[in-house]
Amino acid sequence: MSTHRGEFNSKLGFILATAGSAVGLGNIWGFPFQVGSGGGAIFVLIYLAFCFILCYPIMVTEVAIGRKTSRNPVGAFNALGFRKWSFIGKLGIVSGFLILSFYNVLAAWSLGYFIEMLQGNFEVGQKFTQFTSNVPLIAVYSVIFMSATAFIVSGGIKSGIERTAKLLMPSLVIIILFLVGYAFTLPNAMQGIEFYLMPDFSKLNLQVVYSALGQAFFSLSLGMGALITYGSYFSRKEDIISSVAYITLADAGIAFAAGLMMFPFVFSQGLAPNGGSGLIFVTLPGVFASLGPMLGVFIGALFFLLLSFAALTSTVSLLEVPVAYVIDEYKLERKKAAWLVAGAIFLVSIPSILANGASEFFTSFVHYFGHDNPKSFMAMVVDVANSSLLPLGGCLISFFTAYIWKKENLNQELRIGNETFEGSFIEKYIGVAVCYLCPFILGVLFILTVLDLYFGIKIIT
Ligand code: TRP
Repeated sequence: MSTHRGEFNSKLGFILATAGSAVGLGNIWGFPFQVGSGGGAIFVLIYLAFCFILCYPIMVTEVAIGRKTSRNPVGAFNALGFRKWSFIGKLGIVSGFLILSFYNVLAAWSLGYFIEMLQGNFEVGQKFTQFTSNVPLIAVYSVIFMSATAFIVSGGIKSGIERTAKLLMPSLVIIILFLVGYAFTLPNAMQGIEFYLMPDFSKLNLQVVYSALGQAFFSLSLGMGALITYGSYFSRKEDIISSVAYITLADAGIAFAAGLMMFPFVFSQGLAPNGGSGLIFVTLPGVFASLGPMLGVFIGALFFLLLSFAALTSTVSLLEVPVAYVIDEYKLERKKAAWLVAGAIFLVSIPSILANGASEFFTSFVHYFGHDNPKSFMAMVVDVANSSLLPLGGCLISFFTAYIWKKENLNQELRIGNETFEGSFIEKYIGVAVCYLCPFILGVLFILTVLDLYFGIKIIT
């Protein structure tokens, strides 16, 4: 069964591919802009706490469920003998579809910016809306990006996903470290660092907490079964506990480094850090322009190339989930499945392509209760998927593991490949987190988020 489905070559291959899934636009685009809007260092603090205290145990659980069953997220629940609970996997597939449909648009922008930077077109930052509302252009980049993703996924686990991650992940780390070093040499860099690292507790509120939670889930690719799927290709000779620890560290580390790079950039330009989701697209071209034509083109192009690489290893994991589902459950051939699903997701992403200036209808698509401004179709999909479905998925997965599948079965899987796990502190901690902390905290935050975000009802502020 497992040779037929494919398997990662090695522990390192699994770690790099999964870190490749985790490290993406979420880290380099999403994290800095959320830190900027969420009051700086206080967001960073809460984010890191969520990553290690709540997300790490859930990630371990997802990988364990995947490896135990060697199935996609829907099949996994069936294989454990709990057909009724496979709705969690179905919810995950829907989330993955939604996420990829907007992620693909952001990835298309990154790719487009790479081309703009190569041409030395630094004005694109001021003409951001003009850029995003150029539908034919964005659609072309988007098709290119989706095709690259489908191509890699159709290559399978070892020669497609693992090989791409082994090449792209180290390149990404090198480029980002170089840019961090460069950012520190800029004037006012220290002001940026202060904003980023000195917490101001007066900025703490519920919105900061749930944004940090959604961001942590999104960044770690949690809550929709992506890691059940990747875990299903992980060898039963290897250790889940340490592998997942490396992945969490790598992901949080790269997000942290992206912040170290971004805030000196922003402050050196005398710009405000709370520019919202356009932060990197609007402000960075100006930073690159100030470097002069040669260096500006070089660093600017390098940066957006990096962003596109990071996005690619993530879109691959997003596509892999529904593709694995179609292969396992409908016995479709991998190549066919990959192109078919990619095509379907591209269709779903069309309203998001139109939602950034091109069509008034999709740009001002909904008005949530209790909020002043309308939201675009794409922003709505982001809210539904990231702030709502992912934490809900995490809550359901931990609840299922704790009370339906049972902790003892989880521990049994985690002992495989790790002789010191039994009776260890980490075993106890994961038990407490999965049984009590995760279902409870995630459940409460999910309810508070939905009430606040969509209905404007604030139970606590
Ligand atoms: N983690 C990726 C990022 O930070 C995005 C991503 C890939 C993702 N696969 C996922 C998010 C699965 C949620 C679920 O950019």
